Amino acid sequence: MEKFVVNGGKPLFGEVNISGAKNAAVAIIPAVILCDEPCQIENIPNISDVSLISRILQQLGANVRRINRSSLYIDPTKIGTFNATTELVRGMRASYYLLGALLGKFGKAKVALPGGCNFGVRPIDQHLKGFEALGADTRLVDGAIIEAECDRLVGTHIYLDVVSVGATMNIMLAACKANGMTIIENAAKEPHIVDLANFLNSMGADIRGAGTDVIKVRGASYLHGVTYSIIPDQIEAGTYMCAAAATRGCITVNNITPKHLESITAKLREMGVKITEYDEAIKVDATVKPLKRCNIKTMPHPGFPTDCQPQFAALLMSVPGTSIINENVWDNRYQYVSELIRMGAQISVEGRLAIIEGGAPLTAAPVKATDLRAGAAMIIAALQINGSTEISSIQYIERGYEDVVEKFRSLGADIKKVYFTGDNEQELRA
Ligand code: EPU
Repeated sequence: MEKFVVNGGKPLFGEVNISGAKNAAVAIIPAVILCDEPCQIENIPNISDVSLISRILQQLGANVRRINRSSLYIDPTKIGTFNATTELVRGMRASYYLLGALLGKFGKAKVALPGGCNFGVRPIDQHLKGFEALGADTRLVDGAIIEAECDRLVGTHIYLDVVSVGATMNIMLAACKANGMTIIENAAKEPHIVDLANFLNSMGADIRGAGTDVIKVRGASYLHGVTYSIIPDQIEAGTYMCAAAATRGCITVNNITPKHLESITAKLREMGVKITEYDEAIKVDATVKPLKRCNIKTMPHPGFPTDCQPQFAALLMSVPGTSIINENVWDNRYQYVSELIRMGAQISVEGRLAIIEGGAPLTAAPVKATDLRAGAAMIIAALQINGSTEISSIQYIERGYEDVVEKFRSLGADIKKVYFTGDNEQELRA
């Protein structure tokens, strides 16, 4: 069993380079299915979710090759099937993007229902509503496979009932190949939505308004090959910024877009952290004054991102005073709280609220990553504690954080990945 072992209690110092955005990569890679020529995608994070979606494209018949550590060559021209029902597909949440891409390409798609992180019901009704509005029939087969089929996709007006990142991007994918204009209203505005639109536009698609809540997509018959570089991962950056604050350290996160991080920098500033912004970097200095409690309400972009909520809970548990988190995006994203409580945190959950009584004494304890961001929160918690914390279920963390051990070590953290067999512990190095 692989675990992370963290000996905390030391502030983080130094610089860290942020990788490409996971949630952009897992949409842009399947978007290549729509392209009529090979593409080269750069600044791809080296994480297991990217390996999975790349292998799924290979299973469909694409030629996918790693050019270097962060670039992929993808030739989709030999993809000859719309059937994506393998175990690999079931293994990741973002495989739902295969629905929009295959439907756009073939007018048909058969895709296994997504698995992935577990924090409550994760419906895709808005994705299906969009495909149906575009003219497709959709049905659930055996409770596990979605089939979508149409004679042709026709541009239309779609108003999303909830602001959904996945539905917005999936509908954009299918609409790229529809006849005429599709208008998506109440669209999500995350930076990765703009990134997907920029990628599709660079191939010859006609998408306007991405980043606002009305997106207009005019279908295109031919999409040509491009070389495209993915945006930096705002959540990875936010995670390291949060870790610096939690350990009362001072770090610089490089290779980022500060504009994408405004809700996070605003919250850290409110807590008393000194933030200095550069063109493509942010310095986070928590050595200057004691941190203050704060409240957080997660919202779709440009609100505070739900994907940084667990990390901030781990930070706030050591800040004296009562902080309240209001999780406004997911129904049940507090499964990690019981793990923080094992470490001595005083947190109670009431529905969508987590009430954190910060400043309680913390002690090392064996904990597990209940999902990707929960895992990041465990690392941040452990970095604050004098003593040795073992974190299990680290496969969740590796789904979304490139070189997480090496990056934290470069900031001075004492963290290692070990393989436990009974009483024996063996360190694993990348
Ligand atoms: N929702 C519906 N119906 C739908 C789709 C969503 O009711 O058809 C609801 C969800 O239940 C949720 C809310 O709408 O309450 C927002 O869901 P959204 O569709 O925006 O989430 P997603 O596209 O499935 C992506 C990220 C998540 C991130 C959310 C919100 C990917 C692969 N995943 O999920 O990222 O939390 O947007 O920003 O892009 C993560 O990276 O750790 C992660 C979980």
